[in-house]
Amino acid sequence: AEVNHREIEKTLVSEEEVKQIVQRLGDEISSHYGVLEKELMVIGLLRGSFIFMADLIRVIKTPLVVDFLTVSSYGDGTESSGDVKVVMDLDSSVEDRDVLLVEDIVDTGRTFAKVITMMKKRNPKSLKICTFLNKPAARITEVQIDFCGVDIPNEFAVGYGLDFAQNYRNLPYVGVLKT
Ligand code: PRP
Ligand code: MN
Ligand code: MG
Repeated sequence: AEVNHREIEKTLVSEEEVKQIVQRLGDEISSHYGVLEKELMVIGLLRGSFIFMADLIRVIKTPLVVDFLTVSSYGDGTESSGDVKVVMDLDSSVEDRDVLLVEDIVDTGRTFAKVITMMKKRNPKSLKICTFLNKPAARITEVQIDFCGVDIPNEFAVGYGLDFAQNYRNLPYVGVLKT
């Protein structure tokens, strides 16, 4: 059988840095929300956010519940299609809830822009966004990030949830593929 695997050219965020960034974000989020009237609703955007979500929620002290929304714009390519599709919606209602949206990366900003518009129509009590990676040089649609992990250069990143054609999500660090 053939496995579609290329080597990693360089590391963008090491495993140790991942740990430090996640802890810092957990502290920021915990002190921002404290303890709420109802649990914080942490919503992960699948599939990319699942590893970051798992680590992040374990360092948030605010009582919380989780839900997931599956959206896709990149398909199997390296270019955002700009056409963001909701593949699977949330299970729970966000109405009158404090909502924190969690992403692995904000690249062009189109995914978050679309999801934020969609979420606002559902009348959450508050809506904030958190991303592990931010790629400011690739931005097409402005999005206000409330909790930001780390800025990276305009290169195609894989690992820690991020894929290339669905591969490499399991790398414990973030790297760039050899071309
Ligand atoms: C990737 C990534 C973000 C989005 C960021 O998802 O996980 O969700 O693209 O790009 P943008 O800011 O340009 O919209 P993708 O569509 O590849 O789906 P995936 O999470 O299943 O990998
Ligand atoms: Mn994604
Ligand atoms: Mg992807």
